[in-house]
Amino acid sequence: MALKFIRIAVIYALLGIGIGIYMAASHAFAQRDTHAHANLLGWVSLALSGLIYQAFPYLAQHVLAKVHFWSQNIGLPITLVGIALIYGGNASLGEPFASIGSTIVAVGFVALAINIFRKSPGEA
Ligand code: HEM
Repeated sequence: MALKFIRIAVIYALLGIGIGIYMAASHAFAQRDTHAHANLLGWVSLALSGLIYQAFPYLAQHVLAKVHFWSQNIGLPITLVGIALIYGGNASLGEPFASIGSTIVAVGFVALAINIFRKSPGEA
């Protein structure tokens, strides 16, 4: 589970950095929010999640970790398409994508939070 998160995170790092280089080279900064979310929700949050599951393997064994993993993998691409459409000038099409995608992403963060606050093995 930990490595799966980190592998997906690296794909978002490449995407986020690619958008960053495109913006810098073209001097067209409209997609800066897509860039920021690919990097921070994709690269940083997924890599951090992978490191958390590596540090606390009992968290990775719980079904909540699967809920977290799949909600990020489903919700994040939908969110990024939505943000890209909004800042590409098609807000009416992008907003449903962004709101549905980000809600699915949020469900994953709730699963992570519940998992982390569960009693750990050996905790009194
Ligand atoms: C080669 C790597 C990167 C390049 C070329 C790049 C390029 C850029 C550019 C051109 C902007 C827009 C600046 C402006 O609007 O004036 C930007 C904004 C931003 N970048 Fe990057 N970036 C890179 C990596 C990263 C990484 C790794 C992160 C986070 C982990 C990040 C987070 C952000 C954030 C938060 C913003 C501001 C977004 C906003 O104002 O809405 N960037 N970046």
